[in-house]
Amino acid sequence: MLTLAQIGCGYWGPNLLRNFSAQPDARVKYVVEASAERRRYVRDNYPQTEAVESLDAVLADSAVQAIVLATPAATHAELARRALAAGRHVFVEKPLARTIGEVDEIDALARARGLTLMVGHTFLYNPAVLALKEVIARGELGRIYYLYAQRLNLGVVRADVNALWNLAPHDISIFNFLLDAAPVAVTAQGADFLQPGVEDIVFATFEYPGGVRANLQVSWLDPQKVRKVTLVGSRRMVVYDDVAEEKLAIYDKGIDAPGRDHVALPFDQPDTARLVYRSGAVQRPKLPTTEPLHAAARDFIEAIRDRRPPRADAAGGRAVVAALQAATLSLRENSRRVQLEEILRASAS
Ligand SMILES: NC(=O)c1ccc[n+]([C@@H]2O[C@H](COP(=O)([O-])OP(=O)(O)OC[C@H]3O[C@@H](n4cnc5c(N)ncnc54)[C@H](O)[C@@H]3O)[C@@H](O)[C@H]2O)c1
Repeated sequence: MLTLAQIGCGYWGPNLLRNFSAQPDARVKYVVEASAERRRYVRDNYPQTEAVESLDAVLADSAVQAIVLATPAATHAELARRALAAGRHVFVEKPLARTIGEVDEIDALARARGLTLMVGHTFLYNPAVLALKEVIARGELGRIYYLYAQRLNLGVVRADVNALWNLAPHDISIFNFLLDAAPVAVTAQGADFLQPGVEDIVFATFEYPGGVRANLQVSWLDPQKVRKVTLVGSRRMVVYDDVAEEKLAIYDKGIDAPGRDHVALPFDQPDTARLVYRSGAVQRPKLPTTEPLHAAARDFIEAIRDRRPPRADAAGGRAVVAALQAATLSLRENSRRVQLEEILRASAS
C-alpha cells in the first residue's frame, strides 16, 4: 500500500484525488491546501483524507511515501524540490516546471535519491492516443506528411500562465509521443485580448526531424470546445477528436503521385494530371473506456513499486518544457524561428 499526500485541490486537483483514492493499493492520507474552502471540500468528500494547511507537517510524517502536486505551474519546481529532498516520490501536474533549468534540478535530485519523478501528461494514457500510436507503429499511415492540433474553448482564462503554457503541454506531449521525437525548431505568434502580456490565443508550428511539421492552435477565447488532432500520412489520414463519441477516425484517403520523379508527361498536360485520388472506407476503432488519469495514477504507483521509469517521465516533461520555452521566445521576438538547440545551449551554460 502506497501512502500519498496531494498538494493543491482547486480546479484540477479533485480529479487527481478521485483517481488516486480509487486505487486499491494506495491511500491519500493528506491533502495540503492553502484555501480553507478547498480544505472543506476535501473533508466533505474524502473523510479518510486529512485536509491540512502545512506541508511541513506532512513531510514530517514518515508514513508518507509520495507527493502529488496539483498546484499552479509557478510552484511546481520548488514544491517538487522540497518533496524530493525529503525523500518522497513526486507526481507533478503539467507543465513539469517553467524552465529546463528547473526540470534539470529536480530530475537530478530524483535520480540521486532513486526516487520516481513523473509529470501529468495525461494524454500519454489516453486510449485514443495509444491506439493512434499503434496505427503509426504498424506503418498504416505511410510516411507522415504533417499534423495539427486544436485545443480551443471559452475559458478557463488563467492569470498565472498564458494559453500556450496552460494548454499546449498536452498537444506537444502528444506530438512528441506520436512522432517519437522532439521538435528541432518552432515559430509562434499570439495575441493578448483580455489581460496585457498574457496570450489568450497562440498559433505555433513545430518542426520535427525529417521535415515533419506539427501545427498547434490553442485558445481560451473561442465559441466552440475543440480538442482535435489531425494527422496526414501518405497512405492514410487520421482525426482524433477528443470530444466526439467515436474519438478516432482513420480515413483511407490520399493523393498518390505515381512515377512522379520518372515519367515525363506530354508538354500540354499539367503535372496534376498524374495524381490519383483515393477515398475509401473510414475505420472507427472501438477504444477501451479507461479514464486516462486512472491509468496515469496506476503507472505512477507501479513505477515506484517496480523501480522503473513511468511512461510520462522527467525526460518527456523536459522536452515539453523546452518546446514551450522555445515557443515563448518566438512569441516575444516577433515570431522568429527559434531552434531548440538555442534553448538547450542557453540552459546548459
Ligand atoms: N491534466 C490536465 O488536463 C489539467 C487540467 C487543468 C489543470 N491542470 C494542471 O493542474 C495544476 C493546477 O491547476 P488548477 O487549474 O487546479 O489550479 P487552481 O488554481 O484551480 O488550484 C490550485 C490549488 O492549489 C492551492 N495551492 C496553491 N499553492 C499552494 C501551496 N503552496 N500549498 C497548498 N496549496 C496550494 C490553491 O489554494 C488552489 O486551490 C496546474 O499545473 C495545471 O496546469 C492539468
